[in-house]
Amino acid sequence: QKHLLGIEPLHPTEITTLLDLADQYADLNRREQKHSDALSGLTQVNMFFENSTRTQASFELAGKRLGADVMNMAMQASSIKKGETLIDTAMTLNAMHPDLLVVRHPHSGAVDLLAQKVNCAVLNAGDGRHEHPTQALLDALTIRRSKGRLHRLNIAICGDIAHSRVARSNLILLGKMENRIRLVGPPTLVPAQFAEFGAEVYEDMREGLRDVDVVMMLRLQKERMDGGFIPSEREYYHRYGLDAEKLSYAKPDAIVMHPGPMNRGVEIDGEIADDINRSVIQEQVEMGVAVRMAAMDLLARNLHEARAKPRVMV
Ligand code: CP
Repeated sequence: QKHLLGIEPLHPTEITTLLDLADQYADLNRREQKHSDALSGLTQVNMFFENSTRTQASFELAGKRLGADVMNMAMQASSIKKGETLIDTAMTLNAMHPDLLVVRHPHSGAVDLLAQKVNCAVLNAGDGRHEHPTQALLDALTIRRSKGRLHRLNIAICGDIAHSRVARSNLILLGKMENRIRLVGPPTLVPAQFAEFGAEVYEDMREGLRDVDVVMMLRLQKERMDGGFIPSEREYYHRYGLDAEKLSYAKPDAIVMHPGPMNRGVEIDGEIADDINRSVIQEQVEMGVAVRMAAMDLLARNLHEARAKPRVMV
């Protein structure tokens, strides 16, 4: 692949190759000496048009640990504020010859559009409600390390599915790897078209969690609700907040995941989130750096290969 724009175009063997490399980087990241030169001489530019803590910090650390020159564009202070378009901004940066462009944007499809205009490799760091591929990959790595496999697992994705690019990328990835996916939430937040991904839909959370191996909680994404129905947090927590009682319906060794940022007391009880026997939320963050190192390493190898190819003279 030239870019990492979504999970959709990836073959299961490509996913496994990336996760295997990420596993090696996870080991490297636990050493005192964390550096490699896989991106030495390359320039990585991070463009975040939406807020981020985990994704932006981990892409920056990943690039630096691999020896890239990393620049974080301060989008709030850029000429976008003076009316410059996304494409003009991208073309301007493209003229400075970056090798890797990491982009988060509030509009679905904006990152794909940008990738058509630039010469470098583009990584989607989350576009609107569309995809968040590195999140799904880091979730997959966390599951594989916790459960010892990434197939034939019962996985419940719970909460605000409708507005979630994390849910969409996970549905595609976990489906490709032949897991059984359940979507759990109120009908307003689990649109019927998600059944097309082959998932079972549950309105009752206890039924949805019965005997699952993995419980993946999602935040209520109020910023994407466009003035539509927003449930009361109290009522929502009562019906769909993960607490010890609801978690007791899952398998005794089921793991609890959350991509962050978390709203404690809304979609998850704070004690469950902090329970190191059940929650792998901090490991998800750790795997985020490793997965982003692997993704950029593999894209850089493709870049080197493409650049080494002799040009055909006509
Ligand atoms: N999971 C995730 O994308 O978190 P950030 O918004 O903090 O990057």
